[in-house]
Amino acid sequence: MSTKSIPILLVGCACLALPALADDKPSLDEGKKLYRVYCASCHGKAGKGDGPGAGALKTPPYNLTWSSAKDDYLRQIIAKGGAAMERSPEMPPWAGAITPAQIDSVIIYIKTLRAAQ
Ligand code: HEC
Repeated sequence: MSTKSIPILLVGCACLALPALADDKPSLDEGKKLYRVYCASCHGKAGKGDGPGAGALKTPPYNLTWSSAKDDYLRQIIAKGGAAMERSPEMPPWAGAITPAQIDSVIIYIKTLRAAQ
């Protein structure tokens, strides 16, 4: 076995061994996966508001690379959706789809998109 395959095996084992914990500990990797599944369709892969579904909306999905919103605001708008925050109802609420820890993971990830502008 080459030494290159060892890290891949270790990552694979960690995922199998820790499914119950995945939900409790917010992480960048988890956030990236969730973002790709739930958010990129509107906000775009790089967060620029240019996802494939963006054109069908009346309100442009926010360009997240421009966002300066604080964690508490992000947590609320992601959990409760745009309408609850006096923004567009086209930003859906996610509290029923993903857990608070998963929302924190997504927040870690979307904040990395800011630096990548
Ligand atoms: C159906 C399209 C759609 C999807 C899917 C979507 N959003 Fe949005 N989002 C929007 C729209 C539209 C706005 C702009 C609301 C406004 O400005 O009134 C928005 C706004 C936001 C904002 C506010 C940014 C700021 O700084 O003010 C955040 C944060 C956000 N979305 C995060 C997410 C996350 C995280 C996900 C995935 C869990 C997600 N959105 C999925 C459409 C979407």
